[in-house]
Amino acid sequence: MSGTLRVVICDPNESTRDNLKKSLMGMEEVWLEADSSRYSLFPEVAEQAVPDVAIVDIDSDENEALQVVEAVAKANPKCGIIVVSARADGQLILKAMRAGAKEFLNSPLKLDELLAAIERVDTAVGGEKRAKGGSIITIAGASGGVGSTSVAVNVAVAMAQQPGNTVALVDLDFALGDADVFLDMIPEYTLLDVTQNISRLDLALLRKSLTKHDSGVYLLPRPVQIEDIDIVPPDDFRRVLGLLKSSFTHVIVDLSKTYNRLDVAALESSDTVVLLTQLDLPCLRNVVRLFSAFEQYQGVSQKVKVVVNRSGLDKMQISADKAEETIDREIYARIPNNYFVISECRNNGVPLLMQSPKTAITLAIQDLANKLNGYSPEEGDESDDNGGKKSWLKFLSKGAG
Ligand SMILES: Nc1ncnc2c1ncn2[C@@H]1O[C@H](COP(=O)(O)OP(=O)(O)O)[C@@H](O)[C@H]1O
Ligand SMILES: [Mg+2]
Repeated sequence: MSGTLRVVICDPNESTRDNLKKSLMGMEEVWLEADSSRYSLFPEVAEQAVPDVAIVDIDSDENEALQVVEAVAKANPKCGIIVVSARADGQLILKAMRAGAKEFLNSPLKLDELLAAIERVDTAVGGEKRAKGGSIITIAGASGGVGSTSVAVNVAVAMAQQPGNTVALVDLDFALGDADVFLDMIPEYTLLDVTQNISRLDLALLRKSLTKHDSGVYLLPRPVQIEDIDIVPPDDFRRVLGLLKSSFTHVIVDLSKTYNRLDVAALESSDTVVLLTQLDLPCLRNVVRLFSAFEQYQGVSQKVKVVVNRSGLDKMQISADKAEETIDREIYARIPNNYFVISECRNNGVPLLMQSPKTAITLAIQDLANKLNGYSPEEGDESDDNGGKKSWLKFLSKGAG
């Protein structure tokens, strides 16, 4: 399946409807957008929710239900309909298919059959071609104060300038997270509000829970209390990330340095992990240690790109070549040291691009955002789905003055 699938259900029977809801809510890539307890209201529900998949239990009134299936199928040709019934005679299956159902499932439903049917209808109605969800880019650090928040915030702002990009920034540092300060924002809602409302959260409510910065970045800050980390279940957080991914082209996560369960959930859900380091021995030792920890989690270490921050800080720094040899990995990008500019940005709550657009540090952050965004000047890859990369280049030359 590609991205999060939006699903709506209709079943007047409360007990089977609740069971179906529970099954769907446990599925990683499925988002239950709406549920209806009346056949007569279902066409309107489907029209508003614009679902990828609709599941209709027809047993409360076969005739009315199949009429509704027909209406929903006609009005929403891109929605795959799954009909569910305890009866499974050939005539009924044929009637359901003629009404526009793509799948017929026998109840009581089995989870694996339901999942397989959802995948089949998704493919049948063009799900494979549906725009892939955005990418999740996690910014991790090899040591406290390595510059994760500076990079996360400023990469997010740089990415948000490209036409066609929509960017969300998630602050996952429950203890000391300060992404809101970097952006001089006082958000109304936090990650805790979103996870606590997970059972009724839809894409519209999720967007409303985020606070938009002038740069275009949508911020989801850390909860107010440090101890709130104990009441955010990693699975709920994964679902929030899945939803953000289906709603934004880029989701940037500023990780904590504790590598707790939520950090791991973010690492596992990420498409790319930026591991920030400085060119000193304690950081490089941690890079090696973190890589061996990442090996425990499927697919994580392959997604990691090592980025050096504060390059050129002092003469005592280890050289990039020596660092690559030590960590046995290539350095993906380097961001120069400029304490004055960065702390000015931080204290004023203004991003680099707005505060100091022409400095080397801003250009390096832009280059990193550019590279993470998929454009590689060395490879001359100018093609993207919407031709956005050329305008990104224009933006870069504007930014460079
Ligand atoms: N490239 C840089 N050059 C100079 N100082 C930097 C740079 N990046 C970050 N800093 C400084 O390092 C400190 C920690 O940065 P921060 O982004 O809060 O790190 P983290 O989120 O990893 O704790 C801040 O004082 C910040 O101004
Ligand atoms: Mg930080």
